[in-house]
Amino acid sequence: MKISLIGSGNVATVLGRKMQEAGHQILQVFSPNEKHASKLAGLFNCGYASSWKNIESNADIYMIAIADDALQQIDKNLSLHHKLVVHTAGSVSKSVLKNVSTNYGVIYPLQSLRKEIQELPKINFLVDGNTEDDLTLIEDFVKTFGDKVEKANDDERLKLHVAAVIVSNFSNHLYALAEKYCIDEKVDFNLLLPLIAETATRLQYGSAAKMQTGPAVRNDTETIQKHLEALHEYPSLQKLFDAITKSIRDYYGEFE
Ligand SMILES: NC(=O)c1ccc[n+]([C@@H]2O[C@H](COP(=O)([O-])OP(=O)(O)OC[C@H]3O[C@@H](n4cnc5c(N)ncnc54)[C@H](OP(=O)(O)O)[C@@H]3O)[C@@H](O)[C@H]2O)c1
Repeated sequence: MKISLIGSGNVATVLGRKMQEAGHQILQVFSPNEKHASKLAGLFNCGYASSWKNIESNADIYMIAIADDALQQIDKNLSLHHKLVVHTAGSVSKSVLKNVSTNYGVIYPLQSLRKEIQELPKINFLVDGNTEDDLTLIEDFVKTFGDKVEKANDDERLKLHVAAVIVSNFSNHLYALAEKYCIDEKVDFNLLLPLIAETATRLQYGSAAKMQTGPAVRNDTETIQKHLEALHEYPSLQKLFDAITKSIRDYYGEFE
Protein backbone atom coordinates (compact mmCIF):
# COMPACT_ATOMS: atom_id res chain seq x y z
CA MET A 1 0.00 0.00 0.00
CA LYS A 2 1.10 3.60 -0.65
CA ILE A 3 0.44 5.64 2.48
CA SER A 4 0.08 9.34 3.13
CA LEU A 5 0.66 10.25 6.78
CA ILE A 6 -1.25 13.32 7.94
CA GLY A 7 0.48 14.34 11.18
CA SER A 8 4.09 13.94 12.21
CA GLY A 9 3.79 13.15 15.92
CA ASN A 10 3.92 9.97 18.01
CA VAL A 11 1.35 7.89 16.13
CA ALA A 12 2.43 8.94 12.61
CA THR A 13 6.05 8.11 13.50
CA VAL A 14 5.51 4.74 15.17
CA LEU A 15 2.77 3.42 12.84
CA GLY A 16 4.70 4.73 9.82
CA ARG A 17 7.71 2.70 10.98
CA LYS A 18 5.52 -0.38 11.50
CA MET A 19 3.97 0.00 8.05
CA GLN A 20 7.32 0.53 6.34
CA GLU A 21 8.79 -2.47 8.16
CA ALA A 22 5.88 -4.57 6.81
CA GLY A 23 6.79 -3.55 3.24
CA HIS A 24 4.37 -0.68 2.63
CA GLN A 25 5.55 2.60 1.12
CA ILE A 26 5.20 5.93 2.92
CA LEU A 27 4.55 8.35 0.08
CA GLN A 28 4.25 11.66 1.90
CA VAL A 29 4.17 13.20 5.38
CA PHE A 30 2.04 16.24 6.18
CA SER A 31 2.38 18.59 9.16
CA PRO A 32 1.43 22.27 9.42
CA ASN A 33 4.97 22.69 10.79
CA GLU A 34 7.35 22.29 7.82
CA LYS A 35 10.33 21.32 10.01
CA HIS A 36 8.36 18.48 11.62
CA ALA A 37 7.10 17.26 8.23
CA SER A 38 10.56 17.27 6.63
CA LYS A 39 12.18 15.57 9.64
CA LEU A 40 9.75 12.63 9.57
CA ALA A 41 9.87 12.49 5.75
CA GLY A 42 13.67 12.10 6.15
CA LEU A 43 13.11 8.99 8.28
CA PHE A 44 10.84 7.46 5.61
CA ASN A 45 12.81 8.80 2.66
CA CYS A 46 9.64 10.31 1.17
CA GLY A 47 8.12 13.66 0.22
CA TYR A 48 6.44 16.08 2.61
CA ALA A 49 3.90 18.91 2.63
CA SER A 50 3.09 21.66 5.12
CA SER A 51 0.16 23.08 3.22
CA TRP A 52 -3.12 21.12 2.86
CA LYS A 53 -3.35 21.87 -0.86
CA ASN A 54 -0.01 20.12 -1.47
CA ILE A 55 -1.18 16.76 -0.18
CA GLU A 56 -0.71 14.34 -3.08
CA SER A 57 -3.70 12.47 -4.47
CA ASN A 58 -1.99 9.19 -5.45
CA ALA A 59 -1.82 7.37 -2.08
CA ASP A 60 -3.93 4.25 -1.45
CA ILE A 61 -4.66 5.19 2.16
CA TYR A 62 -4.53 8.48 4.10
CA MET A 63 -3.88 8.08 7.81
CA ILE A 64 -4.82 11.15 9.85
CA ALA A 65 -2.92 11.13 13.17
CA ILE A 66 -3.40 14.65 14.49
CA ALA A 67 -4.58 16.19 17.76
CA ASP A 68 -8.23 15.25 18.53
CA ASP A 69 -9.40 18.91 18.47
CA ALA A 70 -7.84 19.49 15.03
CA LEU A 71 -9.44 16.24 13.80
CA GLN A 72 -12.90 17.67 14.56
CA GLN A 73 -12.22 20.42 11.97
CA ILE A 74 -10.55 18.18 9.35
CA ASP A 75 -13.29 18.58 6.70
CA LYS A 76 -12.51 22.32 6.54
CA ASN A 77 -9.03 21.49 5.24
CA LEU A 78 -9.16 18.13 3.50
CA SER A 79 -11.26 16.72 0.66
CA LEU A 80 -10.15 13.37 -0.76
CA HIS A 81 -13.30 12.35 -2.72
CA HIS A 82 -13.26 8.50 -2.87
CA LYS A 83 -9.83 7.84 -1.33
CA LEU A 84 -9.63 5.60 1.74
CA VAL A 85 -9.13 7.87 4.78
CA VAL A 86 -8.71 6.76 8.41
CA HIS A 87 -8.12 8.48 11.71
CA THR A 88 -6.37 7.03 14.76
CA ALA A 89 -8.33 8.50 17.69
CA GLY A 90 -9.97 6.41 20.43
CA SER A 91 -12.79 8.81 21.33
CA VAL A 92 -13.65 10.55 18.04
CA SER A 93 -16.44 9.10 15.87
CA LYS A 94 -15.48 7.79 12.44
CA SER A 95 -18.20 10.04 10.99
CA VAL A 96 -15.92 13.06 11.53
CA LEU A 97 -14.48 11.95 8.15
CA LYS A 98 -17.80 11.69 6.28
CA ASN A 99 -17.26 14.97 4.40
CA VAL A 100 -13.62 14.19 3.64
CA SER A 101 -14.24 11.06 1.54
CA THR A 102 -16.90 8.50 0.69
CA ASN A 103 -14.58 5.78 2.03
CA TYR A 104 -13.42 6.18 5.61
CA GLY A 105 -12.71 4.42 8.86
CA VAL A 106 -10.51 4.10 11.92
CA ILE A 107 -7.20 2.45 12.77
CA TYR A 108 -6.89 2.85 16.54
CA PRO A 109 -3.70 1.58 18.19
CA LEU A 110 -4.45 0.30 21.67
CA GLN A 111 -0.98 1.19 22.89
CA SER A 112 0.91 4.11 24.44
CA LEU A 113 3.11 5.43 21.64
CA ARG A 114 6.09 7.81 21.90
CA LYS A 115 8.00 8.79 18.79
CA GLU A 116 11.38 8.48 20.56
CA ILE A 117 11.05 4.73 21.19
CA GLN A 118 13.78 2.62 19.59
CA GLU A 119 12.24 -0.83 19.70
CA LEU A 120 8.77 -0.98 18.15
CA PRO A 121 6.25 -2.31 20.71
CA LYS A 122 3.57 -4.96 20.21
CA ILE A 123 0.38 -3.17 19.17
CA ASN A 124 -3.22 -4.41 19.17
CA PHE A 125 -5.56 -2.45 16.92
CA LEU A 126 -9.27 -1.65 16.84
CA VAL A 127 -10.53 -1.03 13.32
CA ASP A 128 -13.73 0.33 11.82
CA GLY A 129 -14.98 1.27 8.35
CA ASN A 130 -18.05 3.02 6.94
CA THR A 131 -18.87 0.12 4.60
CA GLU A 132 -18.24 -3.65 4.85
CA ASP A 133 -15.80 -3.39 1.91
CA ASP A 134 -13.83 -0.56 3.53
CA LEU A 135 -13.75 -2.39 6.86
CA THR A 136 -12.38 -5.52 5.17
CA LEU A 137 -9.76 -3.46 3.31
CA ILE A 138 -8.69 -1.69 6.51
CA GLU A 139 -8.65 -4.92 8.54
CA ASP A 140 -6.54 -6.77 5.93
CA PHE A 141 -4.13 -3.82 5.73
CA VAL A 142 -3.67 -3.55 9.52
CA LYS A 143 -3.16 -7.33 9.83
CA THR A 144 0.08 -6.89 7.85
CA PHE A 145 1.70 -4.91 10.70
CA GLY A 146 -0.56 -5.24 13.78
CA ASP A 147 -0.27 -7.89 16.48
CA LYS A 148 -4.00 -8.40 17.02
CA VAL A 149 -6.71 -6.68 14.99
CA GLU A 150 -10.32 -6.47 16.22
CA LYS A 151 -13.36 -4.75 14.74
CA ALA A 152 -14.91 -2.15 17.06
CA ASN A 153 -17.57 0.51 16.47
CA ASP A 154 -17.37 4.08 17.89
CA ASP A 155 -19.03 3.05 21.17
CA GLU A 156 -16.85 -0.03 21.76
CA ARG A 157 -13.70 1.95 20.88
CA LEU A 158 -14.64 4.73 23.33
CA LYS A 159 -15.10 2.17 26.13
CA LEU A 160 -11.72 0.56 25.46
CA HIS A 161 -10.14 4.04 25.33
CA VAL A 162 -11.54 4.76 28.81
CA ALA A 163 -10.07 1.45 30.06
CA ALA A 164 -6.75 2.30 28.33
CA VAL A 165 -6.57 5.64 30.16
CA ILE A 166 -7.14 3.85 33.48
CA VAL A 167 -4.56 1.08 32.96
CA SER A 168 -1.88 3.17 31.28
CA ASN A 169 -2.20 6.91 31.98
CA PHE A 170 -3.44 6.54 35.55
CA SER A 171 -0.87 3.92 36.57
CA ASN A 172 1.91 5.96 34.97
CA HIS A 173 0.74 9.00 36.94
CA LEU A 174 0.95 6.94 40.14
CA TYR A 175 4.52 5.94 39.16
CA ALA A 176 5.35 9.64 38.68
CA LEU A 177 3.92 10.55 42.11
CA ALA A 178 5.78 7.67 43.80
CA GLU A 179 9.00 8.67 41.99
CA LYS A 180 8.71 12.27 43.25
CA TYR A 181 7.97 11.05 46.80
CA CYS A 182 11.06 8.78 46.70
CA ILE A 183 13.25 11.62 45.43
CA ASP A 184 11.94 14.00 48.15
CA GLU A 185 12.40 11.35 50.85
CA LYS A 186 15.85 10.30 49.51
CA VAL A 187 15.03 6.65 48.88
CA ASP A 188 15.74 4.82 45.60
CA PHE A 189 12.67 4.61 43.27
CA ASN A 190 14.63 2.27 40.93
CA LEU A 191 14.45 -0.48 43.56
CA LEU A 192 10.71 -0.65 42.74
CA LEU A 193 11.19 -1.46 39.02
CA PRO A 194 11.04 -5.30 39.37
CA LEU A 195 7.85 -4.88 41.44
CA ILE A 196 6.28 -2.69 38.73
CA ALA A 197 7.25 -5.23 36.03
CA GLU A 198 5.94 -8.20 38.04
CA THR A 199 2.60 -6.50 38.77
CA ALA A 200 2.01 -5.94 35.05
CA THR A 201 3.44 -9.26 33.81
CA ARG A 202 1.32 -11.50 36.02
CA LEU A 203 -1.91 -10.17 34.46
CA GLN A 204 -1.18 -12.63 31.64
CA TYR A 205 -1.83 -15.46 34.08
CA GLY A 206 -5.07 -14.34 35.70
CA SER A 207 -7.59 -11.63 36.51
CA ALA A 208 -6.28 -8.43 38.15
CA ALA A 209 -8.97 -8.83 40.82
CA LYS A 210 -7.41 -12.12 41.95
CA MET A 211 -3.85 -10.70 42.02
CA GLN A 212 -4.36 -7.92 44.58
CA THR A 213 -1.97 -7.91 47.55
CA GLY A 214 -1.16 -5.24 50.18
CA PRO A 215 -2.51 -3.76 53.41
CA ALA A 216 -5.88 -2.60 51.97
CA VAL A 217 -7.02 -6.01 50.72
CA ARG A 218 -5.84 -7.59 54.01
CA ASN A 219 -7.52 -4.78 55.96
CA ASP A 220 -4.32 -4.18 58.00
CA THR A 221 -5.68 -1.00 59.58
CA GLU A 222 -2.58 -0.19 61.68
CA THR A 223 -0.28 -0.34 58.65
CA ILE A 224 -2.71 1.74 56.58
CA GLN A 225 -2.75 4.36 59.35
CA LYS A 226 1.08 4.38 59.52
CA HIS A 227 1.29 4.91 55.75
CA LEU A 228 -1.21 7.79 55.86
CA GLU A 229 0.78 9.43 58.69
CA ALA A 230 4.04 9.01 56.72
CA LEU A 231 2.38 11.10 53.99
CA HIS A 232 1.36 13.99 56.26
CA GLU A 233 3.67 16.41 54.43
CA TYR A 234 2.14 15.41 51.07
CA PRO A 235 -1.57 16.27 51.50
CA SER A 236 -2.69 15.65 47.92
CA LEU A 237 -0.82 12.33 47.73
CA GLN A 238 -2.24 11.41 51.15
CA LYS A 239 -5.77 12.14 49.87
CA LEU A 240 -5.23 9.99 46.79
CA PHE A 241 -3.68 7.18 48.89
CA ASP A 242 -6.71 7.25 51.19
CA ALA A 243 -9.19 7.28 48.27
CA ILE A 244 -7.54 4.32 46.51
CA THR A 245 -7.27 2.40 49.81
CA LYS A 246 -11.02 2.95 50.31
CA SER A 247 -11.70 1.85 46.72
CA ILE A 248 -9.80 -1.42 47.34
CA ARG A 249 -11.65 -1.92 50.66
CA ASP A 250 -15.04 -1.34 48.96
CA TYR A 251 -14.17 -3.68 46.09
CA TYR A 252 -13.14 -6.58 48.33
CA GLY A 253 -15.58 -5.73 51.13
CA GLU A 254 -18.38 -6.97 48.85
CA PHE A 255 -16.91 -10.48 48.95
CA GLU A 256 -16.36 -10.70 52.73
N1 LIG B 1 0.21 8.68 21.36
C1 LIG B 1 -0.57 7.68 21.69
O1 LIG B 1 -0.20 6.89 22.56
C2 LIG B 1 -1.89 7.46 20.97
C3 LIG B 1 -2.43 6.17 21.03
C4 LIG B 1 -3.62 5.93 20.35
C5 LIG B 1 -4.26 6.94 19.64
N2 LIG B 1 -3.71 8.20 19.63
C6 LIG B 1 -4.42 9.23 18.84
O2 LIG B 1 -3.66 9.53 17.67
C7 LIG B 1 -3.81 10.93 17.34
C8 LIG B 1 -2.44 11.60 17.30
O3 LIG B 1 -1.81 11.47 18.55
P1 LIG B 1 -0.24 11.71 18.72
O4 LIG B 1 0.13 11.17 20.07
O5 LIG B 1 0.49 11.26 17.53
O6 LIG B 1 -0.20 13.30 18.81
P2 LIG B 1 1.08 14.25 18.72
O7 LIG B 1 2.33 13.48 18.89
O8 LIG B 1 0.80 15.40 19.61
O9 LIG B 1 1.05 14.76 17.20
C9 LIG B 1 -0.05 15.52 16.77
C10 LIG B 1 0.16 15.93 15.35
O10 LIG B 1 -0.98 16.75 15.02
C11 LIG B 1 -0.53 17.90 14.34
N3 LIG B 1 -1.48 18.98 14.55
C12 LIG B 1 -1.73 19.67 15.69
N4 LIG B 1 -2.69 20.61 15.45
C13 LIG B 1 -3.00 20.51 14.14
C14 LIG B 1 -3.89 21.20 13.29
N5 LIG B 1 -4.68 22.21 13.75
N6 LIG B 1 -3.97 20.83 12.00
C15 LIG B 1 -3.21 19.83 11.54
N7 LIG B 1 -2.34 19.12 12.27
C16 LIG B 1 -2.24 19.47 13.56
C17 LIG B 1 0.82 18.19 14.98
O11 LIG B 1 1.52 19.04 14.11
P3 LIG B 1 2.97 19.65 14.50
O12 LIG B 1 3.90 18.85 13.70
O13 LIG B 1 2.83 21.08 14.09
O14 LIG B 1 3.17 19.50 15.97
C18 LIG B 1 1.40 16.79 15.08
O15 LIG B 1 1.98 16.38 13.88
C19 LIG B 1 -4.75 11.51 18.39
O16 LIG B 1 -6.06 11.44 17.87
C20 LIG B 1 -4.62 10.55 19.56
O17 LIG B 1 -5.80 10.51 20.34
C21 LIG B 1 -2.54 8.47 20.28
